[in-house]
Amino acid sequence: MKILGIETSCDETAAAVVEDGRHILSNVIKTQIDIHKEYGGVVPEVAARSHIEVILPVIARSLEDAKLEWDDIDAIAVTKGPGLIGSLLVGTLTARTLAYIHNKPLYPIHHVQAHVYANFLLPEPPEFPILSLIVSGKHSQLVLFVSHEKYKILGETQDDAVGEAFDKVAKVIGLPYPGGPSVAEAATRGDAKKYALPKAKLQNPYDFSFSGLKTALLRAVQREVGVDITFPSHALSERLTSSQQHDFAASFQHTAIETLADKTVKAFQEHSPKSVVIAGGVAANTELRHQLANRLSIDIEYPPMNLCTDNAAMIAALGYYHAQSHPPVSPFALQVHPSIGM
Ligand code: KG4
Ligand code: ZN
Repeated sequence: MKILGIETSCDETAAAVVEDGRHILSNVIKTQIDIHKEYGGVVPEVAARSHIEVILPVIARSLEDAKLEWDDIDAIAVTKGPGLIGSLLVGTLTARTLAYIHNKPLYPIHHVQAHVYANFLLPEPPEFPILSLIVSGKHSQLVLFVSHEKYKILGETQDDAVGEAFDKVAKVIGLPYPGGPSVAEAATRGDAKKYALPKAKLQNPYDFSFSGLKTALLRAVQREVGVDITFPSHALSERLTSSQQHDFAASFQHTAIETLADKTVKAFQEHSPKSVVIAGGVAANTELRHQLANRLSIDIEYPPMNLCTDNAAMIAALGYYHAQSHPPVSPFALQVHPSIGM
C-alpha cells in the first residue's frame, strides 16, 4: 500500500510517499527556517502563507521522486494536529481537495504520534512494548506503546516543552533560531559544569517542567553580566563574551538533557519495554544520544536527522498502521485539531 503523506503543522512543508509503513519512496521537506530566522521564531501568518506557496510543488515533487503517478497512490494521510491552525488548514484543505479529485481514501494523522512512527522507517523497526520519549518544540512526553495506537502516557510537560526551552534560552544568550541545533553546537565549546542549574522536582516523576530551568538560566545570565531583573532580556546577550555564551549553552544543555535521560532510565527500569525510541526534533541532540547510550542496558536506533524533525514520511508511516484499523474520513468532514493532546 503506497501512501502519500502531507505535513504542514508548523514551519516545514512536507510530502512523502511510503510503502506499507516501512519503505520510503520519496521524502520532500521544504523548511521555512530562513524565513522565520529574521523574527527569532515562527510567525504563524507567515508560515501559513509560505505553505500555500509551496505545497503543490512539494507534493508534485514527492510523486516525481517516487516515480509514481496519482493512479499508483492508494491513500492520502495528512496531519490533523496539533499545530498552528493556519498551517494545518493549508495541509488539510490540500489533502481534502486531492482526495476528492483523485478519489483516494483520506486519513487524518496525529503529528506527535507520527514522530514515534519515524522509528518504523528504520531497517530494524522497534518491538512492542515500546517506551517513547517524545521531545519536540511543543512536546515533552514519555509514552508506553503496548501496540499500534494503544498507549499510556506516563508523563508530560507541565509548562514549556524541552525544544521550546532550547529555543528560548538561545534567544537569551544570543544564538540563532532554531535554538536546539545552535545551543548544541555552542555547547561543544563550553564547560557544562560552569553554572549549576536546578532540575524541577515534580509529584509524578515522569512529568516534565522546563520553565524553572529557563528562568534560572536567565537569572544566572543577569548575575554574570551584573544587571538586575528589570534589564531588558533582549539586550543581555550583547554583554556576554563568547566563552560565557558557550558555558551557558553547555550548562543548560547538560541539565535539560540529563533530566530527559533520568526520566527515561527510570521508566525503562519500571516498565521493562522491549524497545526504547526517541522522537521529535530534540531526538537530533547528540548529548541526549550519548547519555542514553551510557545509561540504558539496551541499544537505541535513531532515525536520521531529517526523520527526527518534522517530515511527511512519518505521517505516511503512521497512516499505514492507522488505515489497518480505522475507516477513511470523508474529504468533506476532515477537521483540524490545533491543540489535540496525545
Ligand atoms: O519536531 P520538531 O521539528 O517540531 C515540532 O513538532 O516541534 O522539533 C523542533 C524542535 C525545536 O525546538 C528545535 O530547537 C529542537 O527541536 N531541536 C533540537 C535539536 N535539533 C532540533 N533540540 C536540541 N538539540 C538539537 N540538536
Ligand atoms: Zn514535530
